[in-house]
Amino acid sequence: MLTVNRIHRGDAIEGLSKLEDESVDLVVTDPPYNIADSNKKTIRNGEVMTTKKAWGSWDSRHPFDHDLLIMKVISECYRVLKPGGALYMFTARQDNGFFVRHALARGFTYRTQLVMIKTPALPSIYKNAWRSAFEVCMFLTKGRLGTFNFLSQQQLVNVFHYTIRHRATSHPTEKPLVFIERLVQVSSNPGDLVLDPFMGSGTTAVACKRFGRRFVGFELNRDYLKMANQRLRQTPDHPESAKEGESEDDGPEGSGST
Ligand SMILES: C[S@@+](CC[C@H](N)C(=O)[O-])C[C@H]1O[C@@H](n2cnc3c(N)ncnc32)[C@H](O)[C@@H]1O
Repeated sequence: MLTVNRIHRGDAIEGLSKLEDESVDLVVTDPPYNIADSNKKTIRNGEVMTTKKAWGSWDSRHPFDHDLLIMKVISECYRVLKPGGALYMFTARQDNGFFVRHALARGFTYRTQLVMIKTPALPSIYKNAWRSAFEVCMFLTKGRLGTFNFLSQQQLVNVFHYTIRHRATSHPTEKPLVFIERLVQVSSNPGDLVLDPFMGSGTTAVACKRFGRRFVGFELNRDYLKMANQRLRQTPDHPESAKEGESEDDGPEGSGST
């Protein structure tokens, strides 16, 4: 078993293979969307640039390799989740149906889609497309519905509005912490183990630290891992948090075990 309360540097599939069957209570993850392209342009921080520059080369794979990666991750998440555990996974809109179907074939039970509406909408550079203003996140469970903390009618609407203002890091695809916190609060309990195989700037880990959940996850990029660890150091411990992990900015991939 890997050390918990730690983001391990390395590949998601390799990391997942080190987790035991039915050892995780919840998965919250935002994998690469595979939408970076050196020909297409977008606007980032008010500047026009290629999507490859805006999001980074990690978001550009051969489509076949991308599909295979996400399908393997879904499959591994099913294996490591406890019965009743939830998977929340963001996907690119065009891929969502494909990955939902794969997840159902793997054994997951469909619950709903969550929609995150972002304002302001991205400007349409070429003026030939609808302006992008929402992202989707699938909500599935391993069989029956396990933990589901119904916070309030207002907080449990499956459409989430979010204004892009301040980001905690310079990670190009940092997710809003309040949204990730909501998922963690609803579908896990204090002390539960939450997995994110694609940690990025560590939003899932920060949400877990703030709400007294344990976390484990992976990130390939050393700079993003440093960002995430710095964010984690600045996040106060929840009184119920277990202090098991240590920062692994430059350490060997997946070192340490419990
Ligand atoms: C969409 S971002 C996640 C952003 C994150 N939700 C946040 O709030 O910062 C996906 C992350 O996965 C990482 N990544 C890409 N391929 C990976 C792989 N095979 N294994 C682990 N991490 C990977 C990228 O470096 C990137 O930081």
